[in-house]
Amino acid sequence: MGNVIIHRLYNVALIVCLIHLTLGDQPKIIIIGAGPAGIAAASKLYEHGFHNLTILEAESRIGGRVYTTWFDESWVDLGGQSVHGETGNIVFQIASPLGLLEVPDGNGGLDFNIHDSKGSQLPVDIADDLLELYLNVSAIAEKALEGNNGSMGDFFAPEFSRELLKYQTFNETVVKGLIKMFEGLTISTDSADNWNNISAKNFVGYADCPGSEIVNWKDRGYGTILDILMKKYPNPEEELPIMNNTLLNSEVVNVNYNATDKKVLIETNNGQKYTADHVIVTPSLGVLKEQYETLFTPQLPESKVKTIKGLSMGSAAKIYFAFKEPWWPANRSLVLLWDETDRREYENDPSKKWLLDLISFTVVPHRPRLLRAWINGAGARYMETLPESQAFDEAFALLDKFFGKSYNITKPTGHLRTNWNTNKHFRGAYSFRSMESERADVWANELAAPLLLDGKPIVMFAGEATNSQHWSTVHGAIDSGFREADRLIELYNTKNLSK
Ligand SMILES: Cc1cc2nc3c(=O)[nH]c(=O)nc-3n(C[C@H](O)[C@H](O)[C@H](O)COP(=O)(O)OP(=O)(O)OC[C@H]3O[C@@H](n4cnc5c(N)ncnc54)[C@H](O)[C@@H]3O)c2cc1C
Ligand SMILES: *[C@@H]1O[C@H](CO)[C@@H](O)[C@H](O)[C@H]1NC(C)=O
Ligand SMILES: *[C@@H]1O[C@H](CO)[C@@H](O)[C@H](O)[C@H]1NC(C)=O
Ligand SMILES: *[C@@H]1O[C@H](CO)[C@@H](O)[C@H](O)[C@H]1NC(C)=O
Ligand SMILES: *[C@@H]1O[C@H](CO)[C@@H](O)[C@H](O)[C@H]1NC(C)=O
Ligand SMILES: *[C@@H]1O[C@H](CO)[C@@H](O)[C@H](O)[C@H]1NC(C)=O
Ligand SMILES: *[C@@H]1O[C@H](CO)[C@@H](O)[C@H](O)[C@H]1NC(C)=O
Ligand SMILES: *[C@@H]1O[C@H](CO)[C@@H](O)[C@H](O)[C@H]1NC(C)=O
Ligand SMILES: *[C@@H]1O[C@H](CO)[C@@H](O)[C@H](O)[C@H]1NC(C)=O
Ligand SMILES: *[C@@H]1O[C@H](CO)[C@@H](O)[C@H](O)[C@H]1NC(C)=O
Repeated sequence: MGNVIIHRLYNVALIVCLIHLTLGDQPKIIIIGAGPAGIAAASKLYEHGFHNLTILEAESRIGGRVYTTWFDESWVDLGGQSVHGETGNIVFQIASPLGLLEVPDGNGGLDFNIHDSKGSQLPVDIADDLLELYLNVSAIAEKALEGNNGSMGDFFAPEFSRELLKYQTFNETVVKGLIKMFEGLTISTDSADNWNNISAKNFVGYADCPGSEIVNWKDRGYGTILDILMKKYPNPEEELPIMNNTLLNSEVVNVNYNATDKKVLIETNNGQKYTADHVIVTPSLGVLKEQYETLFTPQLPESKVKTIKGLSMGSAAKIYFAFKEPWWPANRSLVLLWDETDRREYENDPSKKWLLDLISFTVVPHRPRLLRAWINGAGARYMETLPESQAFDEAFALLDKFFGKSYNITKPTGHLRTNWNTNKHFRGAYSFRSMESERADVWANELAAPLLLDGKPIVMFAGEATNSQHWSTVHGAIDSGFREADRLIELYNTKNLSK
């Protein structure tokens, strides 16, 4: 869970070392980053007898982009929130048998009401049909896009246009607005700036886990998965000493793999130096893009650099609003439809433009008093640069503009926003394949490839962006951590490491 207070006991590491010395020399493994990939790798390795491991985490908490925090008398997620799919999803497989997950019923929890920028509401039956139409097009896209080398926008814009005109004689202006609305909903999955920049292969190559895309954690948050991985949940007595082997506030500034003694030398911003036989690097693609030149000595091989540059890191933000009591219809999210003239006005005003990327105020399962604004791409980046109160005020004014004529909106009693882009330990939300990735012909599996020394992996890579099937997700990050743990387990499987 987020907000767990961790005691940083320097001598604990020493005691642990002394106890284990009796087991004989174990390979030293350092994991950079205590997000889901790092925690998954550490837990699996520990369970397989690799006890000489340390996680170095830059933030003052574990979890990374899984960040469950306390707000308005409940847990909320600032990062990953929904379990995307059921079959083949490692999180669903682990957490569902524990009774922790809820698969939404009915329309899958996706229902929304649509209001326009003049403040009028589209009839609910039309909103329902538009959701159905949206899902219809998404459902055929997988097949239709196979082998397509274009962008998502190339396919979706004309397809939505055709379906909308078939459905009703909306005039051209309304169709244009609805397509923009659909674009906002579509790109929120990828955290991209627009759908002309998302490769069709991003859509086709991502391996869907069949089932609901928005399985929720009921009154808990996604941070529960960390407790499960560390075996703190369900039985706290079985907890693996992962936290005890994690050093917080330890930002790695250099990984030197030019070693003559076959070890990696790792340096943190507080001047500490660590040597390891293997290091698993898990910081986000955004961090790698910004720091690959200084983070590694010697420089990473050209293929790796090309991949880091060519894959794309998207942006997304949330703003939570708490109200004394709900004034909106239960279980129906609020979606924004822009009138063309209003859109143009906002587009031409640099201080207002970001609000066009705020696509919805979503209801939050099991949190009846909360609404969660979702902000895509460029708007998310801009919002983070605003003073907090200004961001809240402007987002609330937008809520009032679209929905104030239909509901008696009360003043919020609290708000909370994210800063994934501003934070140098993330620099974005999650990765996607852009048209740039296609031009560069770069793939996640190249990012995943370890750097070898004498044929053995010495610098290894995990994290969502290294997952060639489930990038951009928590389950993808966990899979990638397990993958790198397995690589070491296999490497050492002739040696007996466990007691
Ligand atoms: C707003 C938002 C919503 C999301 N919604 C969902 C969702 O609903 N479902 C879903 O499945 N996924 C979702 N995701 C994506 C999901 O959260 C990520 O894919 C996943 O958490 C990535 O895990 P990771 O371990 O690869 O990276 P991270 O979680 O980023 O972990 C990497 C860790 O490395 C640390 N670090 C960085 N640099 C250094 C350094 N130099 N030294 C030491 N440590 C460092 C970071 O602090 C971090 O703790 C969402 C993400 C965001 C931002
Ligand atoms: C752990 O690794 C360090 C560094 O390689 C080594 O000196 C130490 O002996 C190892 N400890 C155990 C218990 O194997
Ligand atoms: C969605 O697809 C179904 C099945 O093809 C069709 O009957 C229905 O009319 C479509 N809905 C909309 C709103 O286009
Ligand atoms: C996509 O494929 C078409 C036809 O095969 C080709 O003409 C076009 O140049 C390709 N576009 C890209 C971006 O590769
Ligand atoms: C299009 O339809 C909308 C809604 O019915 C209407 O308000 C608008 O004036 C129409 N625009 C044009 C150009 O006909
Ligand atoms: C972590 O270290 C503390 C202090 O030594 C110890 O009491 C606790 O049992 C350890 N936790 C785990 C899960 O090993
Ligand atoms: C790597 O080590 C060798 C031998 O110690 C040294 O000559 C070389 O400069 C080092 N390279 C880098 C990039 O540090
Ligand atoms: C597309 O993505 C690339 C890489 O992230 C970026 O450099 C470029 O500006 C984007 N283009 C558009 C139109 O968003
Ligand atoms: C809203 O959804 C919850 C959970 O599915 C359900 O228990 C509740 O009855 C729903 N409320 C309404 C008014 O439909
Ligand atoms: C809003 O409040 C007014 C005055 O109390 C009331 O007449 C009206 O019905 C309310 N509207 C809604 C949508 O609840």
